[in-house]
Amino acid sequence: MLGSTKEILLEAQQNNYAVAAFNVFNMETAQAAVLAAENRQMPVILALGERYLDTTRIEAFSAMVHTLAAAVSVPVALHLDHAYELESIRKAIRCGFTSVMYDGSKFSLEENIRHTKEVVKLAHRAAVSVEAEIGSTARGDFSDEEEGDGRLTDPQEAGIFVQETCVDFLAAAIGTVHGMYKGEPRIDLGRLEALHRTLDIPLVLHGGSGTPDSIIRESIRSGIRKINVNTEVSMTAVKQLTNFLNEHSAPHLSRVMADMQQSMATVMERFIDLFANRSGSE
Ligand code: 13P
Repeated sequence: MLGSTKEILLEAQQNNYAVAAFNVFNMETAQAAVLAAENRQMPVILALGERYLDTTRIEAFSAMVHTLAAAVSVPVALHLDHAYELESIRKAIRCGFTSVMYDGSKFSLEENIRHTKEVVKLAHRAAVSVEAEIGSTARGDFSDEEEGDGRLTDPQEAGIFVQETCVDFLAAAIGTVHGMYKGEPRIDLGRLEALHRTLDIPLVLHGGSGTPDSIIRESIRSGIRKINVNTEVSMTAVKQLTNFLNEHSAPHLSRVMADMQQSMATVMERFIDLFANRSGSE
């Protein structure tokens, strides 16, 4: 069923777990995420990055996700990830997305507040929830995300930001990176705890890929309710593709795509279980 992002995350807040938000951009990635969620009987958030709108027709994509969601028993939400343009946000709202992320992280606090407030007004009018970011997630290896400067979120600024903008969820920059870590991850869990004490809205962790399981578990204990995952799923599928092409000479594309979809669903299930505080065998 199609679920509201906000309701999914408030439920996670009440029960102390996190929900996976997978970056999807075509039929195979979306089907893999929905299949994984249904298999693990957990809600899921399908996140389309603004940068994919050049190659993905948003109206068609949204219609497809609505159809996929209607066919399963678990809640499936549809989210616009890292939008920098108001026009993309308008389009997503028109097409039936359940939430949008406005990324004003490169602006000053005042400017970010000003832009985010505008987005919140627009989205809330259509009962669409809003995620925003202060501080900025840096980019590691193998990510196709925009480079961020790695500034960590200041808890006091976060308090002002949330109060002024009325956003529904906040991305907490605590040292995770988009993509794989270049060295040892240096995650500021103390800062996350301070954010959790200051704010009563669900917190979002960007850069799920490559983050050690122990840190993921601790971050969930400290208020993280949505965890974004992109690079690790992409790397798994590309590795699977390489193996498949080594093992089969001149395969049909339909078989290649089906094989990649299955490999993505498998790695997504592992993330869903980890975020749900399950061992995987349950
Ligand atoms: P990863 O690519 O590190 O999984 O991060 C994804 C993300 O945060 C998308 O917003």
